[in-house]
Amino acid sequence: MPFDPTLMLETTRLVLTPIRATDAQALFAIQSDRPGMRYWNHPAWTDLKQAYVQILDDLSALEAGTQLKLAIREHVDGPLLGIVVVFAIDETSRRAEIGYHLAPAAQGKGYMHEALSRFAAYLFDELRMRRLEAEIDPRNVSSAKVLERIGFQREGLLRERWRVAGEVSDSAVYGLLAREWQDRADPAPR
Ligand SMILES: CC(C)(COP(=O)(O)OP(=O)(O)OC[C@H]1O[C@@H](n2cnc3c(N)ncnc32)[C@H](O)[C@@H]1OP(=O)(O)O)[C@@H](O)C(=O)NCCC(=O)NCCS
Repeated sequence: MPFDPTLMLETTRLVLTPIRATDAQALFAIQSDRPGMRYWNHPAWTDLKQAYVQILDDLSALEAGTQLKLAIREHVDGPLLGIVVVFAIDETSRRAEIGYHLAPAAQGKGYMHEALSRFAAYLFDELRMRRLEAEIDPRNVSSAKVLERIGFQREGLLRERWRVAGEVSDSAVYGLLAREWQDRADPAPR
């Protein structure tokens, strides 16, 4: 089933809406930043065309209902600060994987905690997901902290899973169950 292209998730400081073609330049700035791409699953982009191709794919996937990528902004028409994405959606098992990325200038302000908390609420409470997964480079300490603060548990280590720009890296696999989300001790902030 297609995702709603008019979806809007709000938090105290942020607004999350589906990524749009006009975000290409800003997405390119984020995904071409080498330090920010250190632990990503592909090398930093080098050509603006890569951003346009990616967003076209994202919009097709939104229509097909196979992936939902939301832009993170402070205001509905403000600059792109980052993204959250859900993909690898298994309808039968009601399971999916999430990814996330903030522009360097937006990091260190607790924004991803706020954005991911709201996104998880949408995925569990509205889409009725039963399990969310995330795969991160275990060296990415701030990413692990963001997941653990929301309630994700580290479930395992996949050794030497990736080879990106010649560098081989491990993956730490995290999972969060709907029942754990419902029972979490500290529900705020959304
Ligand atoms: C990883 C990322 C999502 C974190 O989001 P953020 O909003 O900047 O997170 P914060 O700055 O609030 O940091 C989260 C926690 O990590 C801690 N932290 C940050 N850098 C750290 C470091 N180098 N070592 C140890 N802890 C660190 C912060 O103090 C904070 O801890 P707290 O929750 O106990 O206060 C963001 O930095 C990002 O998008 N990075 C680039 C892309 C990326 O790596 N994406 C994830 C791929 S899986």
